[in-house]
Amino acid sequence: MSFASGSNVERLNREPDTHGNHSWPTRFFRSILYFIEGRLNSAFGEHNPFYHLGDLGFYFFYIMLVSGTYLFFYYEPTVTGSFDQLQHLTREQWYLGGVMRSLHRYAADSMVLVMALHILKELVMGRFRGPRWFSWITGVPLLVMVYLSGIIGFWLVWDQLGQFIAVRTSEWLDWLPVFASPMARNFLLNTDVTDMLFRLLIVMHIGIPLFLLATMLIHVKRVSRAQIMPPRMLALGTLAALILLSLLQPTTSHDRADLGIAVSTLNMDWFYLFPYPLMKTGSMGMLWAIFAASLMLMLFLPWLPPRPKPEPVAAVNLDYCSGCGLCADDCPYEAITMRDRSDAHPYFLQEAGVITDNCVLCGICTGSCPSSNPFRHATALPFGRSETLKSGIEMPQWNVDFVRHKINRALSGSEATDKILLVGCEHGIDVRTHAMDAVVPVTIPCIGMLPPAFIEHALRKGAAGILLNGCRKGDCYHRLGGKWLRDRLSNERKPFLRHSVDRSRIDLCWAAPPDRQELQSAITILRQSIKRLAKPMDDE
Ligand code: HEM
Ligand code: SF4
Ligand code: SF4
Repeated sequence: MSFASGSNVERLNREPDTHGNHSWPTRFFRSILYFIEGRLNSAFGEHNPFYHLGDLGFYFFYIMLVSGTYLFFYYEPTVTGSFDQLQHLTREQWYLGGVMRSLHRYAADSMVLVMALHILKELVMGRFRGPRWFSWITGVPLLVMVYLSGIIGFWLVWDQLGQFIAVRTSEWLDWLPVFASPMARNFLLNTDVTDMLFRLLIVMHIGIPLFLLATMLIHVKRVSRAQIMPPRMLALGTLAALILLSLLQPTTSHDRADLGIAVSTLNMDWFYLFPYPLMKTGSMGMLWAIFAASLMLMLFLPWLPPRPKPEPVAAVNLDYCSGCGLCADDCPYEAITMRDRSDAHPYFLQEAGVITDNCVLCGICTGSCPSSNPFRHATALPFGRSETLKSGIEMPQWNVDFVRHKINRALSGSEATDKILLVGCEHGIDVRTHAMDAVVPVTIPCIGMLPPAFIEHALRKGAAGILLNGCRKGDCYHRLGGKWLRDRLSNERKPFLRHSVDRSRIDLCWAAPPDRQELQSAITILRQSIKRLAKPMDDE
């Protein structure tokens, strides 16, 4: 597909500015999510737990690992010892062993909670299709392992709840015609239960989390700089809350297991054990069907309709690639590798290469590439100047020349002398809703896609100010776009915005679709600030 300058102009005439067209259920569920996140933002800011669900999952795992190791040294994997030792810890050593036991339990519950919210968030935001299938599919075994290990944990206590779980689980498994003799026969009499069972259970309770950790690391393999530790304040606050809860509401056991009596009243842990009350004779088959259907649905979800239209991914243009590696460093999805030059270039040793299966079409690499620069001069070979602006890396449907035309077209469409160029991303607020004579909007896929040189270009083309709007702070749809933009503008990350560019004409805003007021205030503040300044920069 060729996108020469001419065809980019034609495309501009043909295609209206787009901003993700979503179905009404998506819009509905996203508005609920934005509402909840907005409320939490006022209390937590960038440390909003909803922006850290994945890293909190890791964090709860670490807490379980430490508290579980402590418990392991006391736990005795025998029929009577298991119950006695945990009772001893809870009663005689409540200040440490008891706290550790409660921490272990509450961290396990919290892990289920953040995992459920994490799944819901990725679902609602549509981040499970295309190249993201990998993260989604590797998440499914995490879900199974967390549950398996958790349920075994309750069993290990061998109190009446453990007894209830043992009996119901064995009946559930017996529904499948795979065991030579029914499992439930092992739980008819107290004498049927052996120490061996507890040794097996403890091995599983420790072994499954080891596989869980390995799978968690595979799960984040396709995201670069994956956050596997929450910010310090969130981590400390979470730990303090769990310790407080452990002291105020310590975890206790039910009465000792006794297969001779029928268990009547139980304190259920609804995070893990919600299917158990449904496990009644006659409903086992239905539960298997629900379990299998849910698992299948989760596994095939990324490929179920409505499937997005396939689009070309980012591609490297060797004529404009110096092999600097900035794009590979910035790509949030590990989609770019640096390799030996394939064109025997006299000066450059490396070139970028795109792993097409990983590219999510965010365009952030275009924002990183030093050749995405409208001021390139003919002498700066190999980045020769031509009518069509080209970048070392770009998506054909979102090439830099197209973006330049979009900006030029928007600016030339307004006669106002104090016009503000409002650049927004496809996942934040739709900037077109704030279009006015002196506010000209342009939408791009991710705010991290805008090369800093384009800001200077827009100022020289007549913009009196530039307002850049991304997703809410800390919640970039493409993970790192907002952060890279901030770092580039403050010259902490290449490519830099030139020092000569007047920073007081540039502002950043982080408004999601419901944050109309916030964007309006940002426009007003920038307008007031540019009123006090001299005339804008001259054209190049
Ligand atoms: C033990 C439980 C889990 C943990 C600790 C965990 C952790 C994480 C982390 C740290 C990330 C990267 C976030 C970032 O740095 O931007 C992530 C991404 C992701 N997770 Fe999980 N996860 C878990 C379970 C799941 C499950 C059960 C699913 C769904 C079945 C899932 C789906 C995803 C998806 C789709 C992404 C990619 C998001 C993107 O591309 O931006 N995760 N997870
Ligand atoms: S478009 Fe985004 S995901 Fe694709 S290569 Fe560029 S930075 Fe990576
Ligand atoms: S940022 Fe541009 S010049 Fe640098 S390696 Fe990537 S494509 Fe090549």
